Order: sequence, then C-alpha cells, then structure tokens
Amino acid sequence: MSKIIANGTIVTASETYRADVRIDGERISHIGKGIAPAPGDEVIDASGLLVMPGGIDAHTHLDLPVAGTHASDDFETGTRAAAFGGTTTVIDFVSPARGDGLMDSYRVWRGKAEGKACIDYGLHMSVVDERPEVFDELDDVIDAGMPTIKIYTAYPATLMISDGAILRLLSWASKRGALVVAHAENGGAIDELTRSIAAQGKTAPRFHLDARPAVLEGEATNRLIALAEAVDAPIGIVHVTCREALNAVRSARQRGLDVFAETCPHYLYLTEESLKAPGFEGAKFICSPPLRTRDDQKALWHALAAGDLDTVSTDHCPFNFHGQKELGLSDFRKIPGGLPGIETRLMLLWQGVRNGRITQNRFVELVSTAPARINGLLPRKGILAPDADADILLWDPERELTLDADVLHMNVDYSPYEGMRVKGAPAKVFSRGELVVDGETFVGTPGRGRYLKRIPTN
Ligand code: URP
Ligand code: ZN
Ligand code: ZN
Repeated sequence: MSKIIANGTIVTASETYRADVRIDGERISHIGKGIAPAPGDEVIDASGLLVMPGGIDAHTHLDLPVAGTHASDDFETGTRAAAFGGTTTVIDFVSPARGDGLMDSYRVWRGKAEGKACIDYGLHMSVVDERPEVFDELDDVIDAGMPTIKIYTAYPATLMISDGAILRLLSWASKRGALVVAHAENGGAIDELTRSIAAQGKTAPRFHLDARPAVLEGEATNRLIALAEAVDAPIGIVHVTCREALNAVRSARQRGLDVFAETCPHYLYLTEESLKAPGFEGAKFICSPPLRTRDDQKALWHALAAGDLDTVSTDHCPFNFHGQKELGLSDFRKIPGGLPGIETRLMLLWQGVRNGRITQNRFVELVSTAPARINGLLPRKGILAPDADADILLWDPERELTLDADVLHMNVDYSPYEGMRVKGAPAKVFSRGELVVDGETFVGTPGRGRYLKRIPTN
C-alpha cells in the first residue's frame, strides 16, 4: 500500500509546481501530476497546502550539561517539539568535557538519543582540548558518521582551543574531506571584559552584552577564516549575529574561499533590548554570542536573501527561567546560556516569506536543502525526489498561532516570543513515510528516530 499526497503545491529550493507525491514504505517513489491511487492506497489531500522537504536543524544542544545543570529538552521532548515545528532531522553536538575520549562521548550521545529520538538525528563532534590522542580518535569519529567537527574560540576555561590546534585540525579536516565548524568569539578578550565588569559590581543580565561586543565576534570570524585560508581548508561559521562577522564571511567568499555561514532565528527577531528588560527578565535572552541591534538584524536578513548566509539553524539550548536561568540571579556569569527554538524556526523564518524578505524557495534552501548538502545528508534528506526519504512537511500558509510557551511543546517554562502571532505553520509532518504530527497532535513514537551516519562532502 502506498501513500499519495495529492493536490498540493510542491516547493523545493529551486521550483514551485503542482504535483502529487507517492510514498512507498520509507521513501518517495514518484512525483508527478495526477498520480492515480491503486486500491488500498491512502490518499492525503493537500489542497491549499505547500509540500516541502522536512526541515533540517543542524545546530541543537539536547540534554547538554552546562554549569551544573542540563539543557531542559532531552532527545525525546526536543525532537518531538522539532517535529511539531516541521523539522524532521536534527544534528546535535556531541560535547565532551576536556580529557574525555571522543568516541566515549559519541557513545554517551547515542545513549541519550536511544529510545527517545522521535525523528532522525545526526551528530557533530566537538574538539575541546589539544591532547595528541585527539587526532588519533578523529579517524574513528569520521568512520562513525561525524564528518563535521566543532571548535570554539570562546570559553577559554572549558571549550576553547588554541589557534595552533585549530590550524592543525583544519589541515587534517581538509585532507579527510571533513568540515570544521566554529563558534567565533574572542574568548580571551571576553574573559578579561567579564572580569572587569564583574569587579565593578555589575551583575545584572544586561552586562552580558558589554562583555561580548560584536567587534570580538568579527575578529574571531576573520581569524578563523584566515586560519582556514592558510591551509586551504573549508570552514563553517555557526550562529553569525552581526555586520562585523558578515563582512568577514562576505569578503572571504568574494576571494573564492569555501566559507559556510549560519544564523539563527533569535538573531533575526530579537535584539539586545530584550536583555535590558527590568529585573532579571533579561536572563531569558542570554545566549552567546548575544542578541545584537536592529541594524545587525537588517544586515542578516539582507545576507539571507543575497546568499551570504547559507543556513538557518536554531542553536536550541533551552533552560527554564525558574530554577535554571535563576542560577545566575546574583551574577550574570552564572546564567546558563542558550535559548529555546527547535520548534519555532520554520514558523519564524516563514514570516520573512510573508513580508517579502525571502522567497518560498529560498526558505526551503535555508531550512532544509542547504543544511543537508553542507552536512552530507543529500540525496537522502533535504529534497523531494524519488528515492529520498519521505521526510515531508505539509505546510499550511493560512494557519495562525501565537508563540507562547503554553502553546508550544518544548520542555521549557517560557518563550522568547511570548505574544508573537505568526501565520504559516505545519499541518502534517511525515518522517520516513510515517505521519508523526497531525496538526495539534503528535502521532509518532519516541525511539523511532534513527542515527544518520553522514559522509565527508568536501
Ligand atoms: O549560548 C549558547 N549559544 N549556548 C549554546 C552553546 C553554544 O555556544 O553554541
Ligand atoms: Zn556556540
Ligand atoms: Zn551551539
């Protein structure tokens, strides 16, 4: 028995056209006009709906241990919320502590997802120390399906590695076809600013902004690109927030360098003003790099439309306001950093389609096809085509909802977008041919999501 999605409008990264989609088992078997159902086939009427490849969120931190607590979404609650928002694949960051074996950490992350993931998932590996054995372990990391390696130029006490180690890693990655992706902020300078701000007794959430100026994101972005250029390696810059970083990316690309860049919805919709809210409210908006200005937002939207940014991912890293963000009530340095977003990514970016900032096709490229291409998931994910996994999103451009915490499904006690009304939301979501979300109802099963072994693409 096949499933036929009939009467919808297909939207891919390059085309919009009327056609039906036949699904056999877990895969798309045919796309064409007027597909005739055979006896016993299930026909899903997609009249008035857009049919798109399911979203791919290439930047999540599920169940991440941070500062004595854990991100409040685990693989079950987080991937279920992702599905509610139209995302059918996440790529989470394996995050070893210094000294941990990379493959041991990989097994820990597989354990976190086991029996819980509601949609398919991949993993990136993070390298947070410079032990010589790290390089021995990296071949196994690639073989285990993680050709994307994350490094940090921030958080010197826990995650940052030196420029020398980054150079060595980039050189290794370029030989192996792997991609190094980087959190770009100048950690040493930020530590110094943080120390001097705290020494003046400035402990409220808004001082997080003063400690992490945009110019230090621009500096680190430029430096990372220079290191990549020096050894002729590609590099990805995650969560780009500001003009300074965008300028670095744009000028590198103009020189023909292979630089990929991502931004996140919170940088497109929220500004630093949220951190300046009275009392402790600003803690809800603490993430790194921090929220920036309206001018930076404008630059990011322009870059999305112009092709200077490749993907929109979430950096989903939620902490409850009560009990978790409150750990930093008396000191902004103790507020766990990160925002919830795994569920709201597509709905937020779609508002950019509605107001003419990006096209529907660019939307699909940014949330699905480009993340699949960059992360080695094509041709299985990120496209609608025969033989691709039937990860399909039926999108209702007329559906409206308010992005309040009690409407959403993420396991967190607040929403950064409280009161914000959006138009355009998922109607149905299929993961490998199985209906997992039907409007307001989750009909999938925890644990059905499979690990995606990815391959090097560079
Ligand atoms: O504040 C953030 N973004 N937390 C998540 C970890 C990271 O730096 O991406
Ligand atoms: Zn980061
Ligand atoms: Zn992150």
